[in-house]
Amino acid sequence: MIQYIVGVSLLLVSLIITVESRELADDVLKLPSQVSQFIHGDEKKDVDSVGTRWAVLIAGSSGYWNYRHQADVCHAYQIMKKGGLKDENIIIFMYDDIAFNEENPRQGVIINNPRGEDVYAGVPKDYTGDQVTVGNFLAVLLGNKTALTGGSGKVVDSGPDDRIFVYYTDHGGPGVLGMPNNPYLYADDLIDTLKQKHASGTYKSLVFYLEACESGSIFEGLLPKGLNIYATTASNAEESSWGTYCPGEYPSPPPEYETCLGDLYSIAWMEDSDIHNLQTETLKQQYHLVKDRTINQNTAYGSHVMQYGDTDLNKEQLFLYIGSNPANDNFSFIEENRLPSSSRAVNQRDADLLHFWHKVCITFSFFLFLLLLLL
Ligand SMILES: *[C@@H]1O[C@H](CO)[C@@H](O)[C@H](O)[C@H]1NC(C)=O
Ligand SMILES: *[C@@H]1O[C@H](CO)[C@@H](O)[C@H](O)[C@H]1NC(C)=O
Repeated sequence: MIQYIVGVSLLLVSLIITVESRELADDVLKLPSQVSQFIHGDEKKDVDSVGTRWAVLIAGSSGYWNYRHQADVCHAYQIMKKGGLKDENIIIFMYDDIAFNEENPRQGVIINNPRGEDVYAGVPKDYTGDQVTVGNFLAVLLGNKTALTGGSGKVVDSGPDDRIFVYYTDHGGPGVLGMPNNPYLYADDLIDTLKQKHASGTYKSLVFYLEACESGSIFEGLLPKGLNIYATTASNAEESSWGTYCPGEYPSPPPEYETCLGDLYSIAWMEDSDIHNLQTETLKQQYHLVKDRTINQNTAYGSHVMQYGDTDLNKEQLFLYIGSNPANDNFSFIEENRLPSSSRAVNQRDADLLHFWHKVCITFSFFLFLLLLLL
């Protein structure tokens, strides 16, 4: 028994050392931020878009240790909503086991930032639990109601003038994206669906933001040009993407949270979209801003944001896809604008370990305490 305790203690000490060593890289990250800019008349052209804006937002995970993915999706919904999209045009996939999870210290509330407000309120529950499947996701994209199994029945019922925004966040691997229910989503099937959607002539252009490890592998060499699709990914084809606002990091979540609140790339595009006038900010400007933040000053705790497909679409303004919050009308994005911010991020895979480490630690202390009582 004593040997067992010593063994486990040594293991824990080595874990602590591993976690601590990660904290040595104390990086200060500079971010472009809000400063008013002259709004040129021609930048506002094309403002009264003819078509409808559609958004499909999906968290591919379940479980409290994956808190951050569903938090990301809820946050994205709030951006679309404030931006002026209608609920009938926003389709949400989330397992929905976080807000009222017994481990959630704030019941009924989800936050995506340490100081963050609740992002859960009002989120439409289109596809939850066992309805979060590859089949339903692809059917929603194609607008094919007969292919659905369960859920609200909302699909991207789009026309040729419409613009579509798709945001996916979860774990991934080479050529594959996670789903909370089997099977996983394979790059080939996703690309085939996008080709089919294009062939049906039911959108003007489509923007795909993708957060996952090895997310570049979903599009690299697979997404052809000419489909009017612009995609950016959290990482290149061969590296991890990173969680952020994790316990033990700075800034860290409130102490009662034993899980990461967000993901680095996702937080970067959303915290930018939260504060800027998206009528003047282009996809390209956001791509560069997100790339700068997600590389995390070239430390080991960052990744390379990539862009794929019809990259010239990135000259378009963000509001064509995700709207713009009227409260930000006077906050135009400019490149030179910088806001000091510091953050270390946690590898998507380690983010899970971190949660378990905290768990192991607490459970182990209790176990040790009991043993000492017995001895
Ligand atoms: C919609 O899905 C059903 C069932 O999978 C399929 O039979 C049908 O061909 C699909 N319709 C279109 C227009 O793709
Ligand atoms: C933007 O600035 C103008 C001029 O100062 C002001 O009238 C307007 O209320 C401001 N808009 C917002 C949303 O703050």
